[in-house]
Amino acid sequence: MKLIEYISWNDDIMIERPLAQWSGTNFVTDASWGDNGKGKIVDLMAQRADMVIRINGGPNAGHTVVNPQGEFALHLMPSGIFNPEAICVLSDTVVINPFTLTEEIKVVRQAGIEVNNKNLLISKNAHLIMPWQKRRDGLREVARGGKRIGTTGQGIGPTYSDRTERVGLRVGDLLAPEFQERFDQELVWQEKLTALMSGNNEVVHYDRDRILEELKEAREMIAPMITSVIPVIWEYHSSNKSILGEAGQGVLLDLDRGGYPYVTSSHPGIAGFNLATGIPPKEVARVIAVTKAYTTRVGEGPLPTELNNEVGEMIRSKGHERGVTTGRPRRCGWLDIPALKYGIRVGGVDSLALTKIDIFDGFPEVAICVGYEVGGKIYDTLPDANDIEFMYQAKPILKILRGWDNDTTSSRLFSDLPENARKFVKEVEEAIGRPIELVSVGPDREASIYL
Ligand code: GDP
Ligand code: IMO
Ligand code: MG
Repeated sequence: MKLIEYISWNDDIMIERPLAQWSGTNFVTDASWGDNGKGKIVDLMAQRADMVIRINGGPNAGHTVVNPQGEFALHLMPSGIFNPEAICVLSDTVVINPFTLTEEIKVVRQAGIEVNNKNLLISKNAHLIMPWQKRRDGLREVARGGKRIGTTGQGIGPTYSDRTERVGLRVGDLLAPEFQERFDQELVWQEKLTALMSGNNEVVHYDRDRILEELKEAREMIAPMITSVIPVIWEYHSSNKSILGEAGQGVLLDLDRGGYPYVTSSHPGIAGFNLATGIPPKEVARVIAVTKAYTTRVGEGPLPTELNNEVGEMIRSKGHERGVTTGRPRRCGWLDIPALKYGIRVGGVDSLALTKIDIFDGFPEVAICVGYEVGGKIYDTLPDANDIEFMYQAKPILKILRGWDNDTTSSRLFSDLPENARKFVKEVEEAIGRPIELVSVGPDREASIYL
């Protein structure tokens, strides 16, 4: 890793861009590898929303929300569910494990929030994740051997591939009078497919009666919420209500524009928002990427700024960097500006919310990666995340900044932050070339500084 000199501080006045007072259609995404704090920012912004739409992915996501109602690890439930005035939507392009969803509905109800068709709509066109897709996910990972992706094991890839193949069960099937027939047809195929994947001429049986019984329970709970969501989204959009999109994952995990094959199977950026809502990108007032003060990744694939040393370990332990869904330790590194710039471009991002700067409290120095060196050439932006070889070769060029001793967690104004923390924020903003609208200094809603 190369070092560049300490920065000089240029005392620009930050322009007022109140994230807390938004209107129109806004979209919260993640420009890197996920887990940057989307749950926190969506929960916060949702206090002003009329509608909150989860646009992609499924229970591979783990969105943490900490608010006066408690602390929640949400996988499918949109993080806007805590605003009783807002309606939450799971759109067509989300893959839904009905058992995970009903468990989450129960958890939210236990926190005193009634969940019904006034505050949650579930697209009838979304695919269902069934036990066979989870099993196939696991079998495929084993078959990949040394080239495993490190998926979350939630059946995401197999369910989206069934969707692409135009097979599989969808949420609306649960309501069909001939559901049992469709289920049985599906079961026959899936047992054959699983047997083929398992090898050894193994005969595979899924526990039909148990699954049907559990599906019946799930159907009873969610049936009133199942509907065609696009007309409702369009009605809200055309009457200028406040719509907030919530992405799962991050743009560098995008199936097509991320680092294939170490990606997920959906589209976390603006393209995914359009697919999920039918709202064209030019009618989206603002796309906000949530970004931590450092970079993490779970699962396999290149991570140019990864710190396999005590600094990485310190970030991991102080930042509690463990997967919400799988409990796996997250790989940690310095903030990767070239990768972020790529994610911002592909994701259609206008501005940023910078989270977890409090994790650096007490660090004598902190760094940001401002460029890569590959084959003797310097790059300030990642040219193509799909070029995995490039990503593996990328040597980060670091800019080292002075750290700060003081605690930032009680800061509520930018001027409350220690000078070097302010310099850090400003430096990131300049390097990225997009405004930072919010700095987060703790997991809960209140621990936020609006710029
Ligand atoms: P998501 O997948 O993008 O919603 O992010 P995760 O919930 O997987 O991971 C973010 C973690 O950081 C969660 O545990 C949050 O509670 C926590 N978090 C979010 N913002 C902050 C912050 O500013 N400071 C600290 N210390 N934790 C934060
Ligand atoms: P949130 O929404 C971080 C990663 C997995 C794996 C790859 C493919 O909480 O930010 P999959 O199960 O989707 O087939 O796994 O994608 N991954 C995530 N990493 N945050 C997530 O979601 C993720 N969802 C999937 O670790 O590397
Ligand atoms: Mg997460």
